Amino acid sequence: MLPLSSQTALITGVGRGLGREIALALARSGASLWLVSRTKGELEQTAELARDLGAQVRTWVADVASEDDVNRLHEAVECAPATVSILVNNAGIHLRKAVTDITLAEWNRIVAVNLTSIFLMSRAFVPAMKQARYGRIVNLSSVTSMTAAPARSGYAATKAGILGLTRSLALELAEWGITVNSVSPGTFATEMNAPLLNDPRISQQFLRRIPVGRWGRPPEIGAVVEHLCSPESGFITGTDILIDGGWRTA
Ligand SMILES: NC(=O)c1ccc[n+]([C@@H]2O[C@H](COP(=O)([O-])OP(=O)(O)OC[C@H]3O[C@@H](n4cnc5c(N)ncnc54)[C@H](OP(=O)(O)O)[C@@H]3O)[C@@H](O)[C@H]2O)c1
Repeated sequence: MLPLSSQTALITGVGRGLGREIALALARSGASLWLVSRTKGELEQTAELARDLGAQVRTWVADVASEDDVNRLHEAVECAPATVSILVNNAGIHLRKAVTDITLAEWNRIVAVNLTSIFLMSRAFVPAMKQARYGRIVNLSSVTSMTAAPARSGYAATKAGILGLTRSLALELAEWGITVNSVSPGTFATEMNAPLLNDPRISQQFLRRIPVGRWGRPPEIGAVVEHLCSPESGFITGTDILIDGGWRTA
């Protein structure tokens, strides 16, 4: 028996990057998967990798910022035999702009994708967890929720909002056996950080701020999320785990 053999996990934003690694970590632990993302081609690539690891996988194309999309996803999950016991809200976008250059549409979009989506997904999937009196929810925040950086106001605000949402939900759902935590990655080599990685000067500046002397490796996020999703982590709730190579303490 693998640790998550009897569990069904739903992970958002799995087309690439950290979401893909989280999906593969949960697949290796034996979970059945609902994989949700926007771009079908990338979504199916991740699904194939998870199936190669022996996981039972269902895929669903959705924009998690859309209430209609989340409702349709929820209806599809309700029709399937197994209920979702693990929810990983990973989908997110970045916005690197001075506050004076951000349009209201850009601001609303980053709030919708990074923060409102977690409300929508939780509202949809918590009732079944309550019924089962068991659940694991993990939200992807960021070290940017705690450390200031210029031209990151929208991103930082949404990621700090996730910490508050996580703590409040943890209190609200504790009596139902549902834990709610967040993880805060530092700098990981994913497409989201391509503008930083592709500029040698900026990349070096970032490296100098990371005490362990390298960027994070996406599987390192998968391992921590997998632990938070395990039955053994039932006494961990309402907290945030920084995975930043020491960035915040430097
Ligand atoms: N990489 C880092 O260093 C880092 C650091 C701190 C926090 N994080 C957080 O970790 C999470 C993953 O980051 P990442 O670096 O893996 O990003 P990424 O490489 O840009 O991948 C993001 C994934 O989420 C999907 N996605 C984005 N918006 C979506 C939406 N509205 N609905 C459904 N899927 C959506 C993307 O697919 P489409 O492109 O098709 O929409 C993509 O598959 C994010 O929440 C990010 O803020 C990352």
